[in-house]
Amino acid sequence: MVFLTKRKNIYYYPSLDSTNLTARRLAKEGAPAYTVVLANEQLKGRGRAGRSWFSPPGKGLWFSIILRTKKLSAPQIAPLTLVSAAVLARHLRQSYNLEVMVKWPNDLLIGGRKIGGILTELSEAKDKTGQLVIIGIGLNVNHKKSDFPPALDGLATSLACATGHELDRNKLFKAIKRELFKSYRRFFRKGFAPFQELWIRYNDTLGKPVKVTWPNGSLEGEALGLSSNCALLVKDSNNVTHHVHCGEIHS
Ligand code: BTN
Repeated sequence: MVFLTKRKNIYYYPSLDSTNLTARRLAKEGAPAYTVVLANEQLKGRGRAGRSWFSPPGKGLWFSIILRTKKLSAPQIAPLTLVSAAVLARHLRQSYNLEVMVKWPNDLLIGGRKIGGILTELSEAKDKTGQLVIIGIGLNVNHKKSDFPPALDGLATSLACATGHELDRNKLFKAIKRELFKSYRRFFRKGFAPFQELWIRYNDTLGKPVKVTWPNGSLEGEALGLSSNCALLVKDSNNVTHHVHCGEIHS
């Protein structure tokens, strides 16, 4: 692992295991909030539910942001994933005129295919600088269709595939970092309320029949809305409403 540059609290690595893991290590060594770890390639990119995240060199944006909070508990931090997704969707829609949708809790989709995902992880230990939050963001930017492995056929796409041209990854990174930082500061002041309308406007989940699956079970029903902590409210066929905090959504 090579440490190349540290400028304005941005750590850039040509190649590393996972930006989330490196961010967590740096945070535990004292890196302040709003430090960013960015990699050109991840050798062990991590997705939700123990999955891997395809992170080839030079194609995407793979980065993690360190946040800290003294006030919020773990459930109160959960909406940060939805804030990130909604703000990214808005930026990509406005900048590239793309129909980007957000799927609860962390997927960014174009035409039902994934162009990005968010992995929010909390540190197990609390210290006097507060609860540690690592927000990992993966965006498929300049992949050609043939760059994806067969396992992602029909499931993933990239901004280049959707726009028909390559994008300047540096420019995109700077723009979304600015918007995310602004939004996180707002979230810590005002909570999820200022972002709710945005998330609802772009969501691909509410009002639809869904099947939620977990390793040990599943639930079918209709996705009604979000709870105050952004759990998904799913009404089953007996009219019982469930608060879903995790799981895979199939719609
Ligand atoms: C998902 O949809 O499963 C979440 C994917 C998150 C991938 C990003 S890439 C940067 C950061 N580092 C990781 O190892 N994972 C996240």
